[in-house]
Amino acid sequence: MIHELSNPVAKTLLNHLRETGTDALRFRHIVQELTRLLVYEALKSEPLESRQITTWQGEHFFGFIREEDLLFVTILRAGLPMIEALGALFPKASSGFLAMKRDEDTHQSVLYYDRVPSCEGKTVILVDPMVATGGSLCDAISVIKGKAPEKILSLNLIGAPEGLEIVKQKHSDIALYIVQIDEKLTDDKFIFPGLGDAGDRAYNTI
Ligand code: PRP
Repeated sequence: MIHELSNPVAKTLLNHLRETGTDALRFRHIVQELTRLLVYEALKSEPLESRQITTWQGEHFFGFIREEDLLFVTILRAGLPMIEALGALFPKASSGFLAMKRDEDTHQSVLYYDRVPSCEGKTVILVDPMVATGGSLCDAISVIKGKAPEKILSLNLIGAPEGLEIVKQKHSDIALYIVQIDEKLTDDKFIFPGLGDAGDRAYNTI
């Protein structure tokens, strides 16, 4: 299931990412803010566990998300600001890292680093700003599925309809939350109009 945010704040921030004048620091800040908006939406039905805490009025029970059950996974490198935002919200959650590189000639993604722990019993939240052909995301989901997660949620900022369709076909059982579905995938496999390469924009390697 693919959920596109309709929130005007989110759309405004996303459109600032498209501006070439948005520098790397502001770019990463916006990516983090959008990640927070996405995770609020993705976890809106998450059950709360009642825990006793000490308040200014003594001991009382309040509801909390079981953050120990959350596992964040990012695809390097553009997803790094996203996983930082999630870790700041849920410091007891664990994080895993995958590295994939899109071959510029074949447009296929190649996995070259896997530091994702066992996902048993975990709600895995996979983050990557961009879904172009969908190849990287499909491969990352397959890797995670091999580690037996409870469920997988994908948070993405921008995607091409063609790539998202492939993700939907190959992995119909995951829920994907995205800020913006753009117009199309270009012949050279870029999101149009898009925002450029999020990794380059975030880390000044344009
Ligand atoms: C980008 C992006 C995704 C992938 C999307 O990463 O962050 O991981 O491309 O493309 P796809 O849907 O066609 O697979 P990139 O390979 O540019 O690496 P980077 O994060 O280091 O910039």
